[in-house]
Amino acid sequence: MENKAELIARFEAEMARVKRPGIDKLMDYIRKSDFYTAPASTKFHLSCESGLLQHSLNVLDALRGLLDENQVNEDGTEMWFYMVAGSPVIQISDESLIIIALLHDICKTYFYSTSTRNVKNEKTGKWEKVPFYTVNDLMPLGHGPKSAMLVKNYIKLTSEEMYAIWWHMGFTDQNTDTLSLTAAIQKYPIIWALHTADMMASSFMEDKDGNKDGFGWQELGAEDASGSAGQYADNPAMPGDSDEPVFMEAAPC
Ligand SMILES: [Fe+2]
Ligand SMILES: [Fe+2]
Repeated sequence: MENKAELIARFEAEMARVKRPGIDKLMDYIRKSDFYTAPASTKFHLSCESGLLQHSLNVLDALRGLLDENQVNEDGTEMWFYMVAGSPVIQISDESLIIIALLHDICKTYFYSTSTRNVKNEKTGKWEKVPFYTVNDLMPLGHGPKSAMLVKNYIKLTSEEMYAIWWHMGFTDQNTDTLSLTAAIQKYPIIWALHTADMMASSFMEDKDGNKDGFGWQELGAEDASGSAGQYADNPAMPGDSDEPVFMEAAPC
């Protein structure tokens, strides 16, 4: 799939800008996992092959779009301002943006599987088994904190990066400790920028099968979500099992 190859090339080019010990090991983990083939969700957004890859890049684009580029350092690295009412509340490096945006949902590796449901083919009148995505979490450690933990297995994170990934779901998680989250946002405002970018991507940029008009990369998956789930079922890392109970995520980002 040409789009998938281009998405992988762009993801790898962005990650190559991260100069941090252990990044090669982290990339090994990503390449060996189902990160490049997994969907972004079972039903909310980009529930198609390589949806997670597309979503991660969308969040980076949305996050850069939210911030103001401040300066380019002598080594070519960029610094960004998070502006509020005309004043900067934080300055952050482009390297940090890449890390928090592209890796915020790394918790979704080894997370999805496929199941099948019987659907009547309107042309033939026959019932057919159609695949769809389901959750089969092989590392049940939660969401944001799990992503932060996985990344920290390979590279060091600044506190700001760790908090941003940890709390990226914002207040969408019913079980969130809202007092802690509020305190964390005040301490590290980038949490709110990342959460906003995540919501922008999943709500405004993404359909089930690809990005919406105006956001490029149309028709990333097959003609319908179930078709692309069929391709994913071939991934040996995540065997489908039609006897498993069906689990879906509670929130979309
Ligand atoms: Fe997420
Ligand atoms: Fe996300």
